[in-house]
Amino acid sequence: MRNKLFTPVTFGPLTLRNRTIRSAAFESMCPGNNPSQMLLDYHRSVAAGGVGMTTVAYAAVTQSGLSFDRQLWLRPSIIPRLHELTKAVHDEGAAVGIQIGHCGNMSHKNICGVTPISASSGFNLYSPTFVRGMEKEELPEMAKAYGNAVNLAREAGFDAVEVHAGHGYLISQFLSPYTNRRKDEYGGSLENRMRFMDMVMEEVMKAAGNDMAVFVKMNMRDGFKGGMEIDESIQVAKRLLELGVHGLVLSGGFVSKAPMYVMRGAMPIRSMSYYMNCWWLKYGVRMFGKWMIPSVPFKEAYFLEDAL
Ligand SMILES: Cc1cc2nc3c(=O)[nH]c(=O)nc-3n(C[C@H](O)[C@H](O)[C@H](O)COP(=O)(O)O)c2cc1C
Repeated sequence: MRNKLFTPVTFGPLTLRNRTIRSAAFESMCPGNNPSQMLLDYHRSVAAGGVGMTTVAYAAVTQSGLSFDRQLWLRPSIIPRLHELTKAVHDEGAAVGIQIGHCGNMSHKNICGVTPISASSGFNLYSPTFVRGMEKEELPEMAKAYGNAVNLAREAGFDAVEVHAGHGYLISQFLSPYTNRRKDEYGGSLENRMRFMDMVMEEVMKAAGNDMAVFVKMNMRDGFKGGMEIDESIQVAKRLLELGVHGLVLSGGFVSKAPMYVMRGAMPIRSMSYYMNCWWLKYGVRMFGKWMIPSVPFKEAYFLEDAL
């Protein structure tokens, strides 16, 4: 196999054996927010399949950042178990990264323990929940939680972290004019909307030092009118590169507003509503989902054109 895909590639301090990366896709294998044997076996098998790197998906940096009850919450008590996972992947010759993030308004009090937070207050119909806009004074502490997550990831033996700054989660909620209606220096102009991301990345890069690779997953477009578009995302990408990140994972879509822009194809209305706990939303989505959540046609490599 002489194809370039099967040649090594370097991201900052990390060299992968080839250019295939299993992207972060939520596994739902963490009951009680703890890594399970199933999660370990899953990533070991991906590594045994020959990828350069596999990515453990969507780990919350704080409890308030959890959107699902079977989602990983990165905290000291689970480090020994995560260490077994990273060792299992390394024994198969692959590298292993972990995606870290905070869901912002994409949660519910019975999952994340508090009224969900975001850039601005409001109501998120998708959860559905009232949302509290974060106070300016809370932002440095939240940024530190991302840095802390990087240190925990290193302790657990991960080679890389991927900061989730897309798909309408917390950092994306600050970047997007749709969810960020703040009147202070964190809202308004793009420069202001990037300020929380800058703060997070400063902590992440400091914690990563020179031995952890840092990737950022970001939106090229939010996928609906009034969201972030490519002219602004190019500025975001340039800023991230200035801040020293080693790789950008270019994506798009907004889970609360344009979920099918992330994955494309027809809306799986039946299966989606099946898992909804709120009865009126469940039947509302069954009856009106087709109009509430637009489908976006699938085509091969649908993010490639914007990425180029
Ligand atoms: C079931 C499923 C779960 C996903 N979970 C995540 C996730 O936890 N984090 C994330 O950044 N993207 C998630 N995604 C998006 C994918 O990682 C990927 O970005 C998207 O499907 C676009 O595919 P591509 O990057 O391979 O073109 C998920 C996608 C699917 C289908």
